[in-house]
Amino acid sequence: MPDKNFYITTPIYYPSGKPHMGHAYSSIIADVLARFKKIDGYKVYFLTGTDEHGLKIQREAEKINKDPKSFCDDISITFKNLTKTLNLSNNDFIRTTEKRHLNSVREIWQRLEKSGDIYLDKYSGWYSVSDEAYYDENEISEEGGIKKSIASGSKVEWVEEESYFFKLSSWSNKLLEFYEKNPDFILPKSRKKEVINFVKRGLKDLSVSRTSFSWGIPVPRNNKHVIYVWLDALTNYISALNFPNTNDKLYKDFWPADVHIIGKDILRFHAIYWPAFLLAAKLDPPKRVYGHGWILSDEKKMSKSLGNILDPLEIIKYYGVDQLRYYLIKEVSIGNDGSISLENLKNCINNDLANNYGNLCQRVFSFINKNCDSNLPEPSKLQDIDKKLINNLVKKVPNLKTLIEKQELNSYVKEIIDFSFDSNKYFNDLEPWKLKKTDISRMNTVIFCILNQIKSISILLYPIIPSSVEKTFEIMGLGKENIKIDKIEDFNLLKPGNKIQQGKILFKKIDSD
Ligand code: ME8
Ligand code: MG
Repeated sequence: MPDKNFYITTPIYYPSGKPHMGHAYSSIIADVLARFKKIDGYKVYFLTGTDEHGLKIQREAEKINKDPKSFCDDISITFKNLTKTLNLSNNDFIRTTEKRHLNSVREIWQRLEKSGDIYLDKYSGWYSVSDEAYYDENEISEEGGIKKSIASGSKVEWVEEESYFFKLSSWSNKLLEFYEKNPDFILPKSRKKEVINFVKRGLKDLSVSRTSFSWGIPVPRNNKHVIYVWLDALTNYISALNFPNTNDKLYKDFWPADVHIIGKDILRFHAIYWPAFLLAAKLDPPKRVYGHGWILSDEKKMSKSLGNILDPLEIIKYYGVDQLRYYLIKEVSIGNDGSISLENLKNCINNDLANNYGNLCQRVFSFINKNCDSNLPEPSKLQDIDKKLINNLVKKVPNLKTLIEKQELNSYVKEIIDFSFDSNKYFNDLEPWKLKKTDISRMNTVIFCILNQIKSISILLYPIIPSSVEKTFEIMGLGKENIKIDKIEDFNLLKPGNKIQQGKILFKKIDSD
């Protein structure tokens, strides 16, 4: 029997400042995939949370004279609130300052020690506190006397201290073998090459503890050291499944994860360090790491340090959450960097939601209210044009599942919005308002077909615009439990005689100014 469990995660975000659009983007992608799997009959576990240790957080807290834990308490809650505002279907929200996580990180550390993968030495080199990352000399450039990471542009500082090391160098070949055996481990494909080339150049051992500050999980039996924040953070993905109890049902059902959704900025940590840590600890690596591109604003990565942030909460307040979700999934090319702007957002809402899907629902519901006494009419024999409309969608369902399987969300939405376009065209071409005077039985069939089409399109749109689709279902007199992929082929769900409620406007058109 195929595995019907699905485990998906977002990065755990640094609660160093307010959540922004980049965070919202990763979380929405993960939610769309989680929701699709759920309506496709999978048992889904969806995890998100906050990454609370390390020097970056300690310094942010010091800036405002707070102890790091209460600093994190305050900001972590804004990330938790964002999961509600974005209407995420996450099962859990993990904080790395929780006890369950502490136990899990200690166990990983002990496993790495036991396998002989950890040794004590001295680190000297460049460190970016903003990225919590070590950089080699050749990854650094100097601008106006300031040394920066070429990849991220963040400032680096010189570090020299006693440190434990993880023998990453001895894992290069095993990692290359692993990538070879699991060709879809890193997606999109373009990023896979980057990683493989980096590993092929040879990996250096990785410093996995720090002694110059204290905000972190102490190294077992040597609490002069705190564990490197990335070893700590990555472990969250198994802490949430009750690791170290590998007999726990959550762990057994859901590890290895099906996909870690992350931004390309943290690909090295997820695609190199994480599987190496896990292999060394004799645990399975995740099945996939998907590194999406960056959301740009004014052609630059949107980030707190650049101050070019579009606030997701503001956008949601003015335009609505489904509108934002739809826009990010449809218009930002998931594998590449993509610019966003208010102008594009408004156009997308108007073209796809208000004028296309919203209009389809609105006109069909109103038609039934006015002309069919609000009842779904009884169809007679379907004609070729009706069958074509319906079958075009039905036969695409396996392809749509494949698109989701590969995280190809832009293509997924485009296919569906095309079905909506075709349905509007069918309604225009068949002119049921004229049939009302000439052929009531044909009119009834057309209305029956198009309402079934609305049902199917709505099911497919549900992962992206869940609350709007729940409203559509309510208008059609259908409970939420019917929002399931296998109901697309169920033409008895909408029964003749069903009451169709008064149609409401689902998506208001936005005036462009
Ligand atoms: O890196 N465009 O946390 P973080 C798209 N705590 N996505 C963006 C983005 C942008 N402009 N900006 C941020 C960390 N993101 C670590 C992760 S995981 C074990 C630890 C998203 O708060 C994207 O997913 O800096 C990116 O990888 C993540 O937020 C970084 O969030
Ligand atoms: Mg970051």
